Amino acid sequence: MSFPYGVDYYPEHWPEKRWLKDAELMNKAGFNIVRLAEFAWSKLEPRRGEYHFDWLDKAIEMLSAKGIKAVLGTPTAAPPPWIVKSHPDVLRIDGYGRRAAEATRKNYCPNNPVYIEFSKRIVEAMVLQYKSNPNIVGWQIDNEFMGDPCYCNNCIEAYRKWLKAKYGSLERLNEECGLIFWGQQYSDWDEIFPPRPPLTMQNPSLNLEWRRFTSDSWVKYQQEQVDVIRKHTSRQFITHNFMGMYKELDYFKLAENLDHVSFDYYPKWGAQMDLAPLAMCHDIMRSLKKRPYWIMELQSGAVVTSQAPIPLPGQIRLWTYQSIARGADGIVYFRWRTCRFGAEEYWHGILDHDGVPRRRYAEVKKTSEELRRITPYLERSIVKPQVAITLVYDNIWAWDMEVPRGDKNYYGESSWGPTLDCYGALYSRNVMVDFVEPTFENVEHYKAVFVPSLMLMDKRVEKNLRSYVEKGGILIATPRTGAKNWNNVIIEDTLPGCLSDVFGIEIEEYTGLPGSERVNLETVGTELTVQNVHAGRNWAEHLVLKDANALAYYQTGSYKSKACASMNKFGKGVAVYVGTFAEKSFYEDLVDWLTKKGSIKPVLPCAEGFEATERINSDSSVVFALNHTQNSISVKCSGEKFKDLSTGKEVNERINLASFGVKVLLRQK
Ligand code: GAL
Repeated sequence: MSFPYGVDYYPEHWPEKRWLKDAELMNKAGFNIVRLAEFAWSKLEPRRGEYHFDWLDKAIEMLSAKGIKAVLGTPTAAPPPWIVKSHPDVLRIDGYGRRAAEATRKNYCPNNPVYIEFSKRIVEAMVLQYKSNPNIVGWQIDNEFMGDPCYCNNCIEAYRKWLKAKYGSLERLNEECGLIFWGQQYSDWDEIFPPRPPLTMQNPSLNLEWRRFTSDSWVKYQQEQVDVIRKHTSRQFITHNFMGMYKELDYFKLAENLDHVSFDYYPKWGAQMDLAPLAMCHDIMRSLKKRPYWIMELQSGAVVTSQAPIPLPGQIRLWTYQSIARGADGIVYFRWRTCRFGAEEYWHGILDHDGVPRRRYAEVKKTSEELRRITPYLERSIVKPQVAITLVYDNIWAWDMEVPRGDKNYYGESSWGPTLDCYGALYSRNVMVDFVEPTFENVEHYKAVFVPSLMLMDKRVEKNLRSYVEKGGILIATPRTGAKNWNNVIIEDTLPGCLSDVFGIEIEEYTGLPGSERVNLETVGTELTVQNVHAGRNWAEHLVLKDANALAYYQTGSYKSKACASMNKFGKGVAVYVGTFAEKSFYEDLVDWLTKKGSIKPVLPCAEGFEATERINSDSSVVFALNHTQNSISVKCSGEKFKDLSTGKEVNERINLASFGVKVLLRQK
């Protein structure tokens, strides 16, 4: 199949007499793929065991006659009313004992055996109907899984079993989770209940286990469906639509048994358009399987008009290219035509309520014409970053639980904070990044690895990072790295614990920095060629240098003149430790220094609002230059030559981009 390019289509929302016109318009727009049926359970099975596929067969046939294939969504995100009526206990119970609303979507419990059984049956019925249909290329499981916990009796039982399988004995559970504190030692598994909100006065280890269990429950629910599909077909791919920086689920686990990840990209959500996190979402999506992903929903209109305003002329095209630039191998816009009814009456698609094609339609049509010229150069190409950032969901959850408690020892209420400080600096310099899970991924092929506050440490991670530095890697860690074990219990050794010798430091003391309190840190000219002052916030550690050199000293605060950041040569590599939540500019200096040293290479020079990425295959490299601003941008080629793939012309002086402009350039060797 050529590059998948299409739209989410809900034929069941429109009279059948309109379908042909839709298919014709889609064909004219250059679309070759649609996603269908993801919320259509009540139409596919209006009564228990009574399946109605005729309407879907007809839609598939009509679309395929216009050259459009389909991905089918399993419809389980929206239980049909007959299930809810006959089995109200399929609905989730929240931490306050309240049952989820009946008449909506995403309201079910992932551990409910009845719901699991009904889900498997509808999925099996669909697979049997469509496994041999050449126009169905793949399956999307459910819709945007969220890690909502459920406190029903099934979940409580399953949680106890999960703990028992993990710990084996109550003695071990009591010991390893420190349940002697406030006399919480258990003598019977049935005494254990999930932690209910607020969690601040409960055991941090069990709080974390509950998060892990909840995430595992959703992964397991997805797997039930994957198994049903795989039993009948290996020809069609299986995916799920993920949500970028959503952090309530372990996305590495959720992605593991899928063929590829899909991403729902709503860049204007929250209307802020902060560029680094948007790019980071893509990089996380690509990194979950270290392989190309699809965009399964790309914003093509205003979403609730105020929450995500209408894309300006050129923006849909820009986001399409940005997605491809960061590794997407399929683009599906959300949605074809804005629905006239239902909870999403203002969730706009390519066409408005009236179904008339206008400028947004013209833009995706033009983009498809361009893509036809460009995508042959992208075949088998991948994004291959030199830099990695660790991403461990257990660690994010452990931090999340500390946020309300520590209050001021963290910032922005978001556990992504330390990651964004590092990522933001790399992004601003056009250095591409992979996210790695160091409990199972080897990091040796990266030139530099950032470890933003990896508080949870265990033997696997220690071994991985230690040998990385020994063999010549550059490791950069930020506060609290190694401060706790995998049970979320603080270690008994002097910090930074098992990696102290790698960093060549000991942490003598630390303090929180309440409110707006800042410490200034001054970098030392010797290692970092620049000597600058930056601010640190929320947290400050006093480092005692053992083998390491100072990289920065505190200029202010209670640790004035003490070391704040260090650099240690260890084996053939270098380990940097930063003892405060330094602002992004500190990491920008660090990235510039790594660039000057020749350790890493930005794709293109940087400019405000300018993004550059590269996709490579065995014999060529394609560079994407993207202007996210409404002004024109011009950057130097820095002695390199490119061929502009849309004009065929050589570019060797400057790359000039108009407002929201894009250039796709073949790097000439
Ligand atoms: C997505 C969801 C879609 C639709 C869309 C609206 O998160 O997957 O079903 O609700 O948002 O923007």
